[in-house]
Amino acid sequence: MVTFDFGRKNFVVVGASSGIGRQVALELSRSGANVLAIGRNLERLDALRQASPVSLIKHPPRIFTEQLDVTTATADEWSAVLENFTSAVGKINGGVYTAGIWGLTPLNAFDVQLAHKIFDTSFWGAVNFVQASTRKRFALEGSSFVVMSSIAGDFAGKSLFAYSAAKAAIQTAVKSFASELVRGKHRINSVAPAIVKTEMLQNELFAESDKLLSRHLLGLSTPFDVAGMILFLLSERAALITGQNFFVDGGYVVGSFE
Ligand SMILES: NC(=O)c1ccc[n+]([C@@H]2O[C@H](COP(=O)([O-])OP(=O)(O)OC[C@H]3O[C@@H](n4cnc5c(N)ncnc54)[C@H](OP(=O)(O)O)[C@@H]3O)[C@@H](O)[C@H]2O)c1
Repeated sequence: MVTFDFGRKNFVVVGASSGIGRQVALELSRSGANVLAIGRNLERLDALRQASPVSLIKHPPRIFTEQLDVTTATADEWSAVLENFTSAVGKINGGVYTAGIWGLTPLNAFDVQLAHKIFDTSFWGAVNFVQASTRKRFALEGSSFVVMSSIAGDFAGKSLFAYSAAKAAIQTAVKSFASELVRGKHRINSVAPAIVKTEMLQNELFAESDKLLSRHLLGLSTPFDVAGMILFLLSERAALITGQNFFVDGGYVVGSFE
């Protein structure tokens, strides 16, 4: 079994109150890291904080929480939450940005506000997070960052222009960021799942579209499957990997051309 030791390390997870982000925050914490968990839903963030592993060691890893709306957060607000965390535990070893919302935007009748919100959450929020968290005052040299794309970024479907464009944009931004962040020896990559069993898609896509489900030749992913790739990318085993996008798609892409 491959396990990761994140003992005495510090990570930020944005979108940690649910789904993939929550799983990543929990696994980082269980493998010894201090985690700053960011989201909007305080109740869920509190529940996550209470899920910190019980430990008899002197300074057990802790989950810290901060409430932040990534669509409205200013540079000063990003700095303030990072300052609170790093002044308590030290500089970060990396971060994961999983905040995102789903929504259909049919070309002839889309809700403009929703389309902007989708883009602001998946793209601009990630850009602002990467800009703030990779600053020297917050990140140790050689930190690793992961942001969420989606296979929708490569295979846009009907009524998905806003979501797909945001997920394609973040993949491209990652390639550009990677070449700038090497000055701090930082790495950054994106992860692109197909359908993952989380709250995000339960209402619309899980409406048992057999055709869609059967394209996932190995079955639908869970947050655990996606977290595996993210933890690998955060770890030192991925020390030479940067600027890449990784599918975790249950065989969706190989199955889609039959
Ligand atoms: N589920 C899938 O099938 C799938 C497939 C491909 C890619 N993805 C991508 O994977 C990422 C995680 O998705 P998920 O399935 O884990 O979704 P999820 O369970 O709905 O979790 C989304 C997270 O984003 C946070 N978030 C949303 N808007 C926010 C805002 N304005 N400010 C701060 N936090 C915000 C939510 O926190 P609060 O509610 O507390 O604000 C929540 O913690 C997303 O980027 C999604 O696009 C998901």
